[in-house]
Amino acid sequence: MNDQLNLRDLRRVDTLQIVVKQEAPFLPKVAFVLITLASMGGAFFTGTGMGLGPGALVLRWLTLWSLALAGGFLVWRLAYLRASEPEAAQHETDALNTTALTHADKVARWVAPLVLIGAPGALVVPVVGGWQWLSYGLVAASVTVAALLLGGVSRRGFAFPAALILGLALLGWAVLDAGAGWQGGVRLLHLAAFTLWLGGALWNILVAMPAGRAHPTVDAVLAGARQLDRFRWVVRFALPTIIVTGLVMAWGYSMMPLVFWVSFPGVLIPIKVLAIIALVVVFITCPLFRRCSPVPGVCNIDDLADADADTTHAHARDLADAGA
Ligand code: HEM
Repeated sequence: MNDQLNLRDLRRVDTLQIVVKQEAPFLPKVAFVLITLASMGGAFFTGTGMGLGPGALVLRWLTLWSLALAGGFLVWRLAYLRASEPEAAQHETDALNTTALTHADKVARWVAPLVLIGAPGALVVPVVGGWQWLSYGLVAASVTVAALLLGGVSRRGFAFPAALILGLALLGWAVLDAGAGWQGGVRLLHLAAFTLWLGGALWNILVAMPAGRAHPTVDAVLAGARQLDRFRWVVRFALPTIIVTGLVMAWGYSMMPLVFWVSFPGVLIPIKVLAIIALVVVFITCPLFRRCSPVPGVCNIDDLADADADTTHAHARDLADAGA
């Protein structure tokens, strides 16, 4: 906040109007689609390597994608959304969070059936003797997460166990696909980074933005900006984690001839690399062009001062004109 109006000043301006854009910004949706396509490429690459047919490939991808939607969504609810925010008036933060959690319950009721339909995905993965219990455990985990999502993520008593079981399911999937050694650890990091990013992007688009639009006040903008910033910090780690773990996993195929990399399924990896390059561009341009939220100030709190310096000065001028 530079020498322009600081938050305290802004709050004194009783006619402060935050002009909210009705349309949802484009870039966050682009990021959501790119992450989804990259996850499809990865799951199809791994699934083809397991000898799965088209139906099983799609089902297994749906399992991982729906768990990622729910996982990152639950983390925003449990970790980025806070009951109170420094500098923001409590009643405004409460109002914003109440609206957000109402939206979140609605979205969770859409995600739950996806998780449920994807639940049998673990049964199509070929397993070595004695590990069948893990496949059944993963099916049970998806069914339980779906049931808890239907219970409502606004209640911590549902959201917390759902996040815990989901975390264990990601661990189970990493072991099922890549074993319990370091390869399993790399896969777990790849899946965890994907989950935090995709589910967070879902919350930003379908919860944070509509809630922000419903509360165009300085304090609510501040609270919304803090939540988005926490998510952006997580993405700052998820992005390099996905790239490094992806490269480590791709290195396992480095002995393959060129023809492998330019034909299916090998070509899926370079395609994922292109997707991640596009995502880096989106991640950098989003805040730059203030395209992470329709509410000025949520992308960058300084915008509040800029946006309202005009309003305030205009107001000050009116006051002056009115001889107030
Ligand atoms: C947003 C970007 C990305 C997402 C969402 C993503 C997601 C995924 C998913 C869901 C899988 C399937 C895991 C499984 O079936 O167990 C996967 C596998 C894989 N990913 Fe990624 N990935 C991304 C970027 C990358 C990048 C940039 C690379 C390479 C540089 C990469 C390399 C791989 C490899 C090699 C596998 C297959 C591992 C194997 O089966 O041996 N990924 N990815």
